[in-house]
Amino acid sequence: MKSALLNIQSLLLLATTLLQSHYATSRIPIIHSYPHLSLSVKDYGATGTGLQYDTVSIQSAIDDCSSAFFLHRRRCLVKFPPGKYLTATLYLKTGVTLNISENATVLGGTRLEDYPEKQDRWYVVVAEDAADVGITGGGEINGQGLEFVKRFDERKNVMVSWNETGACLGDECRPRLVGFIGCRNVRVWDVSFNEPAYWCLHVVRCQNTSIHDVSIYGDFNSPNNDGIDIEDSNNTLITRCVIDTGDDAICPKTYTGPIYNLTATDCWIKTKSSAIKLGSASSYAFKHLIFDNITIVESHRGLGLQIRDGGNVSDITFSNINITTRYYDPSWWGRAEPIYVTTCPRDSNSKAGSISNLQFINITSVSENGVFLSGSKGGILSDLKFVNVNLTYKRWTNYTDGLVDYRPGCQGLVNHSTTAGFVMEHIDGLVFENVNMRWSKEKTGLWNIPLDFRPSTVNNVSLLHFYSGLYRGENKDVEYF
Ligand SMILES: *[C@@H]1O[C@H](CO)[C@@H](O)[C@H](O)[C@H]1NC(C)=O
Ligand SMILES: *[C@@H]1O[C@H](CO)[C@@H](O)[C@H](O)[C@H]1NC(C)=O
Ligand SMILES: *[C@@H]1O[C@H](CO)[C@@H](O)[C@H](O)[C@H]1NC(C)=O
Ligand SMILES: *[C@@H]1O[C@H](CO)[C@@H](O)[C@H](O)[C@H]1NC(C)=O
Ligand SMILES: *[C@@H]1O[C@H](CO)[C@@H](O)[C@H](O)[C@H]1NC(C)=O
Ligand SMILES: *[C@@H]1O[C@H](CO)[C@@H](O)[C@H](O)[C@H]1NC(C)=O
Ligand SMILES: *[C@@H]1O[C@H](CO)[C@@H](O)[C@H](O)[C@H]1NC(C)=O
Ligand SMILES: *[C@@H]1O[C@H](CO)[C@@H](O)[C@H](O)[C@H]1NC(C)=O
Ligand SMILES: *[C@@H]1O[C@H](CO)[C@@H](O)[C@H](O)[C@H]1NC(C)=O
Ligand SMILES: *[C@@H]1O[C@H](CO)[C@@H](O)[C@H](O)[C@H]1NC(C)=O
Ligand SMILES: *[C@@H]1O[C@H](CO)[C@@H](O)[C@H](O)[C@H]1NC(C)=O
Ligand SMILES: *[C@@H]1O[C@H](CO)[C@@H](O)[C@H](O)[C@H]1NC(C)=O
Repeated sequence: MKSALLNIQSLLLLATTLLQSHYATSRIPIIHSYPHLSLSVKDYGATGTGLQYDTVSIQSAIDDCSSAFFLHRRRCLVKFPPGKYLTATLYLKTGVTLNISENATVLGGTRLEDYPEKQDRWYVVVAEDAADVGITGGGEINGQGLEFVKRFDERKNVMVSWNETGACLGDECRPRLVGFIGCRNVRVWDVSFNEPAYWCLHVVRCQNTSIHDVSIYGDFNSPNNDGIDIEDSNNTLITRCVIDTGDDAICPKTYTGPIYNLTATDCWIKTKSSAIKLGSASSYAFKHLIFDNITIVESHRGLGLQIRDGGNVSDITFSNINITTRYYDPSWWGRAEPIYVTTCPRDSNSKAGSISNLQFINITSVSENGVFLSGSKGGILSDLKFVNVNLTYKRWTNYTDGLVDYRPGCQGLVNHSTTAGFVMEHIDGLVFENVNMRWSKEKTGLWNIPLDFRPSTVNNVSLLHFYSGLYRGENKDVEYF
């Protein structure tokens, strides 16, 4: 107790410093200002060499910082000066923001003993039931994901699985990078998260989360390298993020409760899976989600809804989004669809959720496959609207096409000899307004169905200014026939 008090007394009370990111723009009001306390992990004995574990020093700093928060009612910063800080799991506490400076790296350990007993708490940094927590500073948290590759494979790496302890079954037993579980008022900004061994940033059952000016670099060939997974959480803002990773980039899921009010804007994404994916865990509702001003490049799937567990989806808007999607190795989910909206029961014990009031506005895409809109008997898609949508279809990889993808579960992969601009089934209420489809001339034998209405399952369709035709020339040089 005495030494803790001493440390608290040695805290520096900074003048009223504005917590202001140098990227800040006026678009989203996320900047708060308050006086804060700060202390350095170096003062707690952290070596910053990257060779020995600094876990104990860093954790003491965090614990004291949190005590100081309760004492002074001011947020407290734990500073990491330039250096490499090798560590086992760190527990972020109420009132504490990690300030990882430019040229400082928090390096996740690669040994099973670096992580707690329960697999669902395997993170390099985790905050649980905490409030007013954050991570910033311009530096990096790195999970050393490449150390977890058992065999490099340019199609898909084979990864280590720590399943021999019995703490976890299957081949996905590796630590996540950063987790917030049951937290309030979370802010993550101006920081890089690199090389996660598994998922990268995981937000679970939280309220009021702001993630901005964050870059995430996973490995393009490593499975399960998700970017940001938002689970059972309300009021989440993601903006100005760059995500370049193997698996799903922004992935809202519902396991134990709904997702309300998620907004993601101004992001750049590249992934070998879905850029945006709702699901597939989808036991509860997804409501009022906005995705705006997003660039998606060379991904396996663009905007995806993969609803499998009975949760209902409503009031979702996708606007001002440019997409390119292409085929990759089929062991990755995705079939080059720019837009993929599906709901079906995962298995015989599941229900199909409904999907309603979905808007796609100002979307352009260049893709190797068409749009797939597939409800199911118990899960109708209703009130889908496509406004100002330009879709260009061409082929530039040599992967084979002609498969329709209902995975996971449902009908699985189904052979289909043609490729359609839009495949549609089990829909009630579909509006197209200013929708242009342009087809490259090659492979026209296969690209011959602009709109594929699956018989008797599509009702209430309105087409206004709808165009479909071939084009010649590479890009902008569009020529109609
Ligand atoms: C970080 O490292 C770069 C390159 O060595 C250097 O130019 C920069 O000043 C460093 N920044 C800080 C905050 O140490
Ligand atoms: C983090 O620390 C750096 C270096 O001391 C400082 O410039 C920056 O303002 C701090 N960030 C916050 C949010 O206080
Ligand atoms: C452990 O994971 C490996 C793959 O890394 C897999 O082959 C094996 O079946 C898994 N064992 C168990 C018990 O899950
Ligand atoms: C999110 O809001 C819904 C609806 O009010 C509520 O049922 C749920 O518990 C909230 N989730 C969290 C994590 O607070
Ligand atoms: C979330 O933020 C809003 C606005 O700042 C605030 O009114 C609300 O109390 C916060 N919710 C929680 C659970 O802290
Ligand atoms: C979602 O946001 C709306 C305002 O846009 C607010 O009225 C509502 O309470 C929020 N829902 C939850 C569960 O926080
Ligand atoms: C869209 O997002 C990009 C960053 O990806 C940003 O530079 C640009 O200013 C945003 N556009 C608008 C209109 O906000
Ligand atoms: C999409 O492309 C158009 C035309 O090149 C460009 O004006 C717009 O800023 C792009 N938007 C995004 C979100 O990338
Ligand atoms: C989805 O909506 C249906 C029909 O309104 C309802 O019966 C079902 O309980 C809802 N599912 C969930 C998970 O709330
Ligand atoms: C779609 O293409 C048309 C014709 O080239 C163009 O006028 C319009 O701005 C484009 N819309 C979008 C959303 O890119
Ligand atoms: C769609 O684009 C047009 C033209 O750029 C713009 O005026 C309109 O506000 C955009 N719509 C949305 C919902 O962003
Ligand atoms: C497919 O294309 C790649 C290069 O993009 C090439 O290396 C490979 O040999 C091609 N495969 C076939 C079967 O043509």
